[in-house]
Amino acid sequence: MGLLLPLVLCSLATFYTVESLPQEALSLLPLLSRGCNDSDVLAVAGFALQDVNSNRKDGYVLSLNRVSDVREHRQDGLGSVFYLTLDVLETDCHVLSKKAWKGCEARSFYESVYGQCKAIFYINKPRRVLYLPAYNCILRPVSRRKVHRMCPDCPSPDDLSDPRVLEAATESLAKYNNENTLKQYALFKVTKASSQWVFGPATSVEYLIKESPCTKSEASSCTLQLTDSVPVGLCKGFLSQSYSEKFVSVTCDFFESQAPTPGEENSADNQGPTNLPKAEEPQQINTAPTDSPSKAMPKGSVQYLLDLNDEKPEGSQEKGPVEAFPVQLDLTTNPQGETLDVSFLFLGPMKEKLVVLPFPKEEKRSAKCPGPAQRADPLVLPP
Ligand SMILES: *[C@@H]1O[C@H](CO)[C@@H](O)[C@H](O)[C@H]1NC(C)=O
Repeated sequence: MGLLLPLVLCSLATFYTVESLPQEALSLLPLLSRGCNDSDVLAVAGFALQDVNSNRKDGYVLSLNRVSDVREHRQDGLGSVFYLTLDVLETDCHVLSKKAWKGCEARSFYESVYGQCKAIFYINKPRRVLYLPAYNCILRPVSRRKVHRMCPDCPSPDDLSDPRVLEAATESLAKYNNENTLKQYALFKVTKASSQWVFGPATSVEYLIKESPCTKSEASSCTLQLTDSVPVGLCKGFLSQSYSEKFVSVTCDFFESQAPTPGEENSADNQGPTNLPKAEEPQQINTAPTDSPSKAMPKGSVQYLLDLNDEKPEGSQEKGPVEAFPVQLDLTTNPQGETLDVSFLFLGPMKEKLVVLPFPKEEKRSAKCPGPAQRADPLVLPP
């Protein structure tokens, strides 16, 4: 090895003279295996997940259950690129609330949605830069069959288009409009629903609301619609019926910063590159000044798949290993890596390039991974 390395260095150096950028040889720096419980790794994972959440327009904030795998690729004098595989849990905060995942509650086990995210995250501590170039996540609801076996009376998820779900949403929102405000709100979209039997059917529902142009006095007959309306809050409603009695309850939580109106350039978003704050105040991240915020928008998606047990009927497990959360994330397929221009993250006139590699394979993961889980229940951990 001691003899081989200089040789490799030489041949690559000549190979790369074509590009005449000394930075191009950076991919020679090895990918470091890091411990999944290292405090700096956990901090990086937390920042990356925060950026994933703030990039999303739909769904619930994801929280970190554990770091499943991590590799660090040091960039000569320019910080590090981390390749993170994170096991995540859905919380009860909507992403439009822009709440930090640490301030959100994980859901009860019977309504858990869990999964895995892969993220490529760049950190440059001395220059206080954090940047998420790309991520992908796959989520699944907890196995309904397993939940039912453990807890036959627990609420079970409903089809969002079920008439009872819509009824629970409209009735609870009517109650909210009637009791709480001068302003009126209208249903934007149902986001979650479940039901159980408690002396009769009981439905819990979560939905986004928008402002309604109607006044309180005309509420019941009003058909006005605001065009271009955006969700302004998330309500949790409950409707139960037993004998002839109906019970309705509702709470609504309004978003601090509302979603930008379509077509308008979003200036105060959290989606661009972020300045690294002092270590003791990680929640206060400022948006770095940049001329091209569009380039800083991470590429990524969150995909929802079915309950694992729904897909595989019982007894059909012998079909060979099927990857339950097949998250793909590759900015390049070139094993030597490719350069990624991140000059826009810095104020200077210099061209700053990172070397990104194909996403490292899980088989080579460190013995110190995965890290300890916040919730170690196998029901919500990717296999
Ligand atoms: C993870 O790190 C924390 C703090 O450093 C430590 O208390 C804990 O025991 C570690 N857990 C494992 C499983 O290594």
